Amino acid sequence: MQYTTLGRSGLQVSVAGLGCGGNSKLGLGTGHSEAHAVDIVRRALDLGISFIDTAQHYGTEAAVGKAIKDRARDSVVISTKLKVASRESGIASVAEVLAGLDRSLRVLGTDHVDVFCLHTVLPQEYDRVLAEIVPPLLREKEKGKFRFLGITEFAGRDPRHDMLARALSDDCWDVIMVAFHMLNQNARQRVFPATQAKNIGTLLMFAVRAIFSVPGRLQQDITELAAAGKVPKWLAEKKNPLDFLLHDQGARSIIEAAYRYARHEPGANVVLFGTGNPDHLAPNINAILQPPLPDADRQKLAALFGALEGVGLDEIIPRR
Ligand SMILES: NC(=O)c1ccc[n+]([C@@H]2O[C@H](COP(=O)([O-])OP(=O)(O)OC[C@H]3O[C@@H](n4cnc5c(N)ncnc54)[C@H](OP(=O)(O)O)[C@@H]3O)[C@@H](O)[C@H]2O)c1
Repeated sequence: MQYTTLGRSGLQVSVAGLGCGGNSKLGLGTGHSEAHAVDIVRRALDLGISFIDTAQHYGTEAAVGKAIKDRARDSVVISTKLKVASRESGIASVAEVLAGLDRSLRVLGTDHVDVFCLHTVLPQEYDRVLAEIVPPLLREKEKGKFRFLGITEFAGRDPRHDMLARALSDDCWDVIMVAFHMLNQNARQRVFPATQAKNIGTLLMFAVRAIFSVPGRLQQDITELAAAGKVPKWLAEKKNPLDFLLHDQGARSIIEAAYRYARHEPGANVVLFGTGNPDHLAPNINAILQPPLPDADRQKLAALFGALEGVGLDEIIPRR
């Protein structure tokens, strides 16, 4: 494993982070047991992963808690998240947020988390979240319940990263989570310049998601993009539109290319990957540890897809 610093938090973290959400939810999302989920986390830790991203909303905090119970607490960086706003109920009350933080600590079986993130905040919710939720939460931080405050975007509903662009002008966020992948590169212009200038810890999500893991899905999206004139038509005629990435000096699979691509983007600290399949742990870590894709391949990805927005950001991944 390779380790890096999570921006101004100073936390030392593995460059590959285990995501406990997405469709897989450590396997809980695809019908597996909690014991299976606990085993995935333990195996990830044994492979050198030291950054775990969970959330109250995922239902995976209990499995993470069981997996870390017999480990030294300071050997693993735990990040969890709480949804504080929704279209149905507006902004949560301070009491609800504080109860949510305490519930996460209880379920995780720890007296503190390293990073506490506000989950999927939309641009139109941001000002109220900042004014009403952040000040009382920072008082909980002073009490030691969490070490660093973070915020994550709602990728599918905020494809231009408007919430993060706004949040990055405030000083309270130590860590952010942003969607970035080979066909969704606009964080390069809209997010990474500010995270790098301010040294904000940056977690990447959606590196693979459905677009690169569900068979046929990439071709389907490319066909739709070609029909809309957003990518060249010849790409849609290919069985594997990204086959130019697969060669001796390049990647061995599209999934490997996707994780490598995200890992080496300037501004990325941790690439999260989500899985419920123990056989995917080592290959994904190995992909993230590979060198950057060759320059020519990266340039081709930028030329073909650099202007796309909102591609491959599904909230729910269709079943295979
Ligand atoms: N707004 C937010 O806060 C937010 C939103 C989205 C995600 N996240 C976080 O980011 C994490 C990563 O996102 P993600 O879950 O979408 O992860 P991802 O790594 O981009 O995609 C995971 C998907 O790819 C599949 N996959 C992974 N490795 C594979 C392999 N080697 N071969 C074939 N298929 C593979 C997984 O299925 P298998 O189970 O079969 O491996 C899963 O369906 C989440 O777990 C969550 O922690 C946060």
